[in-house]
Amino acid sequence: MIKKYNFSTSASREGTNAEKYTMRKKLFGSDVVIPLWVADMDIDTPDFVLEAVKKRLEHPVMGYEEMPRSAFEAQCDWMKREHTVEFEVSELFYSHSVVASMNTVIEAFTGKGDKIIVQTPVYPPFFHSVIENERELLKNPLKLKDDGTYSFDIEDLKSKIDEKTKLLLLCSPHNPVGRVWRREELEEILEICLKHNIIVFSDEIHSDLVYAPNIHIPFASLNDKARDITITAIGVGKTFNMAGFAISTVAITNDELRAKFKKVYDKRHFAFGSSLSHIAFEAAYKDGKEWLEELKIHLYKNFLLLKELCDQYPHFIKITTIEGTYLAWLDCRGMLLKDKELREFFVKDAKLGLSAGISFGREGSGFMRLNFALSSAKMAQIIENLQKALQSIGRKSD
Ligand SMILES: Cc1ncc(COP(=O)(O)O)c(C=O)c1O
Repeated sequence: MIKKYNFSTSASREGTNAEKYTMRKKLFGSDVVIPLWVADMDIDTPDFVLEAVKKRLEHPVMGYEEMPRSAFEAQCDWMKREHTVEFEVSELFYSHSVVASMNTVIEAFTGKGDKIIVQTPVYPPFFHSVIENERELLKNPLKLKDDGTYSFDIEDLKSKIDEKTKLLLLCSPHNPVGRVWRREELEEILEICLKHNIIVFSDEIHSDLVYAPNIHIPFASLNDKARDITITAIGVGKTFNMAGFAISTVAITNDELRAKFKKVYDKRHFAFGSSLSHIAFEAAYKDGKEWLEELKIHLYKNFLLLKELCDQYPHFIKITTIEGTYLAWLDCRGMLLKDKELREFFVKDAKLGLSAGISFGREGSGFMRLNFALSSAKMAQIIENLQKALQSIGRKSD
């Protein structure tokens, strides 16, 4: 394959409003750390997206605009081609944020005191949203097996569900543990949800970032019954590094669920978002396939570099096998540090700003999440920093 795109360097985000950079001092007490926390990429957003936006700017009026049908259609085509799931344009809602969609689902389908299943460790807004909406958190932690891989804990789930359990927030692929759930695993979840009338909010925002031979199975694609109970969140934010465009969609195929969702959605006034986002979204889905294929090869190479380093220090860091996402889940329990000390090791010794595992739930204690969506140049820098830091504690513990 002839490579068309180059991920060896990327534009500097220092001095821009990039949250990952501006918040460093507050979070890490230092603004010289390389930030590896927020889940966006230090890789340029593709030029075909930016060019489409520039072209739109040639027209001088920026009034209210509806999200065009062609943008929704581009997403439907992508979902059908890449993920073998069929959605109609009429089944999709624009959303500026997956987390806002999740909160809307919580309000629409549950009442105060109802129980919502969350599978920890997980992206923190999953449990924050439940608590902030005054619903009850039903924690069904993932099972960490002896080989360091994760699975659902079906027996735990079965034992905890009762008549107050109304909703399951599924993270698929899973942030932070990097799992891409197999069909059989999802079918087990489906069976339980059907039996107990539980609706599934399937956050599939990372679904395009899956490494072969793993395949993303949209929950709604399992069968017709699954389609009927699923609300899917999908978008371009992670895939094409477009979080700054604040655009995603919610797909609901069941008429009754869609009407219920729409009531709260309208009340919250999601409206249509920005005209520039619509253009960017459509261009990404129409022209993005080749870029994405090359990006995934690049990202996986970064993962292997990190793995090669961690494998030299297995007594300190065990890297979790990755199936999807650009977020490495590092088991640092071998370092025998408290969570605060662990974070300090990365900040002070390695000059790297990672996400603390504990922020993804108690089960993440002793772990760190490292975002490796970086240009080759930046990746080389973080490997060097981490290598030096590990060498130095290696010497101290000799
Ligand atoms: C699983 C998951 N869902 C949602 C989001 C955030 O999406 P949004 O910015 O659209 O709210 C993230 C960002 O890291 C994520 O990892």
